[in-house]
Order: sequence, then C-alpha cells, then structure tokens
Amino acid sequence: MGWPMRRDHRGCGLTGNRIAGRKGGMKRFLLGLLVVIAFTVLGTLGYLGLGMAEVRADIPPGRWEKYLMNTGVHASVRRRAPDVPNPVLPTDDNLIAGGKIYLEACAGCHGRPGKPFGNKGPILYPPIPELPVIGTDLSEAQVFWVAKHGIRRSGMFANEAWASPRISKTLWLVPLLAIGIAHGQQEKTANSFAEPSTPEAIEQFNDDKIAELSKQIAGKEDQPAEAVFKNIKILTGVPSGNLLKIMQMGYSRSLGTSCAHCHVPGQWERDDKKPKQIARDMSKMAHTIIFDLLRNIDGIKDRDPLVNCTTCHRGQLKPALNLDSDGTKK
Ligand code: HEC
Ligand code: HEC
Ligand code: HEC
Repeated sequence: MGWPMRRDHRGCGLTGNRIAGRKGGMKRFLLGLLVVIAFTVLGTLGYLGLGMAEVRADIPPGRWEKYLMNTGVHASVRRRAPDVPNPVLPTDDNLIAGGKIYLEACAGCHGRPGKPFGNKGPILYPPIPELPVIGTDLSEAQVFWVAKHGIRRSGMFANEAWASPRISKTLWLVPLLAIGIAHGQQEKTANSFAEPSTPEAIEQFNDDKIAELSKQIAGKEDQPAEAVFKNIKILTGVPSGNLLKIMQMGYSRSLGTSCAHCHVPGQWERDDKKPKQIARDMSKMAHTIIFDLLRNIDGIKDRDPLVNCTTCHRGQLKPALNLDSDGTKK
C-alpha cells in the first residue's frame, strides 16, 4: 500500500509531501492491522464456536498448541509459586514418607520410579510428564504448589481440594521425592519406599534381593559374614552365604515379611529401621532361652532342644496368643 508513494518521491529529500504520505501510510497500516486483528478474533471465535478445534487426547496436538500451552503453564507456575524453602527436611524417613504419598496419589499418572510406562502410560493431553523418567526443572516450592493447586484444563487436579486430608497435609513431602529423582537418585528412592504387601509380592521381592546379593558376594560365600558385610554384630563367624539364607528363610519367611521391614534395601548395613535391632535382640533372647533355660529342663526327649524365630512367629510379625477352637493359630 505505502510502497508506490515512496517511489514517487524518490530523490526529493524530506519534503512535507513525503511526511504527509507517511502519515497516510501509517493510518492505512493501523487500519489494516485492526482489520487483521478483528478477523483473527472472529476467526478464532468461529473456529472454536463451530467446534473445529481438535480436543481428542489421543491425537497428538500441533506444535503451536504444545508451545503455547507449555510455555504458559510453566511461566504461570514460576510467577505464582512462592519462593520458599521446603519446611520438611530430606531425611530418609521423610523421603520414604514422600515416596509413599507419591505412590498413592501421583504414580498412577506420573509413573513409578524404576518402572517406566514405555508406550503403555495413560493417554492424556496435555501429556502427563513421566516424572521418574524425565525429572522436572521446577523447584520444590513449585512442585508443592502444582500438587496443591493443580493445573487447569489438565488431568493435574488440585490435591488439597480433592485428596484425603492426610495426603494434602503432607504434600510438602512429595517434592523431596521429585528432587531425589531429579538428582538421579531413582534407585535409592525407589528402593527405599517400595515395600511389597501381598504374600506373593513379598516372596518375589525377597527372592530378587537375595539373587542380587548372591551375585554381589559370588566367590565369597564361605568367608565369615563380618569380612564380607559391613555391620555384623551378632552373626559373626557365620559364612556370608549362610547369612543370606538366614535373612531369607530364618528372618523374612518366619516373620512373613519382606527385607524392607528391617532394611533400607540396597543399604543393608544401615540400622535406621527399628525391627532390625529388635531382630538382633530377639536372636539374643532365643539364645538365652535355648542355652540358659530350655536345656536346663530335665527330662526333655530331644538332646538339643531348640527355639527359633519360627517357633513363635509362624509367618507373622506378632506371634499368636490364642488358638481357634479347631486348634489352628489365631
Ligand atoms: C490424574 C492424573 C494426575 C495425577 C494423579 C497427578 N498429576 Fe501431576 N500432572 C498431570 C498432568 C496431565 C500434568 C501436565 C499439566 C500440564 O502440563 O498442563 C501434570 C503436571 C504436574 C507437574 C508439573 C511438571 C512439569 O515439570 O511441568 C507436577 C510437578 C506434578 N504434576 C506433580 C504431581 C504430584 C506431586 C502429584 C501427586 C500428589 C500429581 N502430580 C498427581 C496429571 C496428574
Ligand atoms: C526381621 C528383620 C530382618 C529381615 C526381615 C531381614 N533382615 Fe537382613 N539383617 C537383619 C539384622 C538384624 C542384620 C544384622 C545382623 C548382625 O548384626 O549380625 C541383618 C543383616 C543383613 C545384611 C548384612 C548387611 C551389612 O553389610 O552389614 C544383609 C546383606 C541383609 N541383612 C540382607 C537381607 C535380605 C536380602 C533380606 C530379605 C530377604 C533381609 N536381610 C531380611 C535383620 C533382618
Ligand atoms: C519366644 C518367642 C519368640 C521368639 C523365639 C522370637 N520372637 Fe520375635 N517376637 C516375639 C514376640 C512375643 C514379639 C512381640 C509381638 C508384639 O506383641 O508386638 C516379637 C516381636 C518381634 C519383632 C517386631 C515385630 C514388628 O512388628 O516389627 C521382630 C522384628 C521379631 N520379633 C523378630 C524375631 C526374630 C528375627 C526372631 C528369631 C531370631 C524372633 N523374633 C524370635 C516372640 C518371639
């Protein structure tokens, strides 16, 4: 529009005519711009109103849609989430508690650590970031904020409004896990809270751990436990291969529990779980019963009478105190 006029005045210097021409050009330009804007607005309204926008979640969105939505969401989270430090300290207990909440309230959508969805994840658009795989560049406060308030028009609901009060009260624990994941501690965090609960899952879990450890100590099975492991206080002198059998059959099976009841798996030497120390004390108790009491009782038929974990526990953490009328344990 404005171009031919310019050519008319080529070489004339800055005359009043040219300035007027420019003003006219500017007016037309602005008018043009308004028309374009009006068409864009009408066009968009029409496009949306006529139902032409694609809303199916199982069809991948276009590049522009992706860009606009992602940028908008991230910028909004950055702007609104208060920049405060996590009031919860990253102790192991808190990491584990955070992991539990994550498994309960988030993993169904965001994925379980160590078990990537592959192509079998839930199909949603906006897509669900698979946090254990890709991590997040959000701060702990921002993760907390998203978990608390949710994100509009996405599957990310507001946990505070929706979830049980117990979970929403402890939401600050979850970002700890996310941060652990972001820092590549998947293995540790995944392991430390993955405590199996059904008998089949427990058996599988224990078998897997024993297989892993057997590989690690291959060739050293006959060396004393204290030479192979790091924190042996009562099972000194026991060949390390036997220690694993005691853990699997003696302790886990007779109590009907998984290694994770007493251990932070992968960090077997640690003493932070109470049942581990109880097990040591139980072992001493059984020793006392056998050698100071049982074997002093006259007239027992067996020459070397024994008491072990199974004698009392019989596959339960809490030994029974009563019998059913048919004589089975309660
Ligand atoms: C029903 C599925 C669902 C559940 C359950 C869920 N989310 Fe989300 N979450 C999403 C979706 C979908 C998005 C993507 C939203 C977007 O990009 O607009 C998202 C995004 C996020 C983000 C932003 C990630 C990033 O880097 O952009 C965080 C953080 C997050 N969720 C944390 C959580 C936490 C913590 C929980 C559990 C308390 C949770 N989510 C539960 C579906 C879910
Ligand atoms: C009821 C509690 C309990 C259960 C269940 C249990 N352990 Fe243990 N574990 C112990 C105790 C107690 C010790 C330390 C023994 C000692 O001090 O001599 C120990 C020590 C170990 C050690 C040596 C760690 C080191 O470096 O000092 C390994 C490895 C181990 N257990 C593996 C396992 C595995 C694998 C399972 C599951 C199949 C399991 N444990 C189940 C109580 C348990
Ligand atoms: C003489 C019976 C007896 C023997 C033998 C025995 N226990 Fe126990 N054990 C108990 C009782 C009783 C409790 C307490 C249960 C309760 O009331 O909570 C208990 C509790 C425990 C607990 C805590 C349970 C929990 O909820 O975490 C552990 C761990 C444990 N025993 C491990 C062992 C191990 C390992 C052995 C073998 C070395 C063993 N016990 C041998 C009677 C026994």
